[in-house]
Amino acid sequence: MKRRDFIVRVAAAGGSTYAAMKALDLLGEANPAVAQSQTLQIRPGRGKRVIILGAGLAGMTAAYELRKSGYKCTILEARGRSGGRCWTVRGGDQIVETTGTVQTAQFAQGQYFNPGPARIPQHHITIDYCRELGVDLEIFPNLNYEQYYYNESVPGDLSGRKVRARQAKADLRGYLAELLAKAASQGALDAPLTAEDKEKLVIFLRTYGGLDPDLFYRGTNRRGYDVEKQGAGDRPGKFSSPYSLSALVNLGFANYEAFEQGYDQQMLMFQPVGGLDQIAKALERKVRSTIQFSSEVQEIRKTPNGVRIVYSQNGNVQQITGDYCICTIPLKVLSKIPADFSPDMQAAIAGVEYAVTGKSALQFNRRFWEEDEQIMGGITSTNIGLATIWYPGYGYLSKRGVLVGYYNFGAVAAEFGALQPEARVRRAIELGSRIHPQYNSHYETGMSLYWSNIPYNLGGWATYTTQTRQQFYPRLNQPDGKIYLAGEHLSYLTGWMAGAFESARVVVQKIGAQA
Ligand code: PHE
Repeated sequence: MKRRDFIVRVAAAGGSTYAAMKALDLLGEANPAVAQSQTLQIRPGRGKRVIILGAGLAGMTAAYELRKSGYKCTILEARGRSGGRCWTVRGGDQIVETTGTVQTAQFAQGQYFNPGPARIPQHHITIDYCRELGVDLEIFPNLNYEQYYYNESVPGDLSGRKVRARQAKADLRGYLAELLAKAASQGALDAPLTAEDKEKLVIFLRTYGGLDPDLFYRGTNRRGYDVEKQGAGDRPGKFSSPYSLSALVNLGFANYEAFEQGYDQQMLMFQPVGGLDQIAKALERKVRSTIQFSSEVQEIRKTPNGVRIVYSQNGNVQQITGDYCICTIPLKVLSKIPADFSPDMQAAIAGVEYAVTGKSALQFNRRFWEEDEQIMGGITSTNIGLATIWYPGYGYLSKRGVLVGYYNFGAVAAEFGALQPEARVRRAIELGSRIHPQYNSHYETGMSLYWSNIPYNLGGWATYTTQTRQQFYPRLNQPDGKIYLAGEHLSYLTGWMAGAFESARVVVQKIGAQA
């Protein structure tokens, strides 16, 4: 019997194909993280020429990997810098929008702003590339128990109040444990549990929720000593009484908690030391000789044996031919470029939506969030339009700091985006000062961006619905002649740098199999 037949039969008989494959030693040692960082095994390029459109992470990764196997690569990059959305803005840098607005960053030396990606999960391939490229990482504080949940116009007495994450978490855990312990004692859990299990569950819940011996939750020092801090001498500390269950439920805390618990958002998370663009810079060092900057693609053409790309380099129209093209241009931009795509491909390119999102950065001359409120990094979540305020996870205890004044999405982001950049910043300050009144006396400078208005992006990141994933994604993954698409939009990790890396690797392997 062939090995494949054996596995099929095991599966048909209801057996574990995994065990069968393991027995046949088909899986080898499962250590995907190690496998990922290794060089791709692709057939040598023998001088085949690949034209890559876009020197973002996907484009540069494709060039980096293909060159390891002897392909000749040219990257056409519309901007004067590499990295695409993998970008850091420092003093003197500009943010230009399609509406014609130009902002020049006035940040002080050492301060910076990541307008795009900013946090990396430990399990993403991005970490492996940082290792391979020698990018220094530090922890990104995506969740800090000191951070706030601040919602206005919600029912209950927590509306318009700053609730520390620590307090919300301790109280909700306590109340839920209390309810469950009571349900268990009243026989409501008899179906799934034996009498002995129930006893153990109640013991578990007492510890888990911080319940009193009578199984009531009346508060716990887990929520902190917010009335009077613990200290020395005669200061045992005093914590306030818990918020009511009703107020917490009405606050709308579940969404924040669910976000923090998401697989891609769980702590620990990481960031490059000194700005997110360190990843792009490190990759650029590997492929610099292949990049032609300020080269805007104007036409994408098929030829009998390959591709021809027309581009404008500092206003001069030029063209270049190659055996293959890897196009990483975001779909919102690509859909407007004249190209020889087949009709189904063109429809797929036009059919995918992009996240509507914006960010602002506010520099303050004092780290009041650290000094007055003990918030050393983290993210405050709110329903007042800002959505999130990010406290810097670097430069602790220093004088100045740059906050992300808002990072919002959807309709709210569009409202901000419709304003002039300066007006967005004013709005960020006005709204943010409801949470941090110190804004008014310590603000120095700020800027904002709206991704739908950023040239060569025209959107945040690809957002598939179940429908567009079915209808368009498979087509986008198939080459059109010798043209292959790559980028975060060609992945299930949309909106993550890992999507760009993974997608580049998939396409490089496809070309390798072809060549
Ligand atoms: N990766 C981005 C972030 O963490 C965008 C994103 C958000 C992607 C939520 C998917 C889900 O903010």
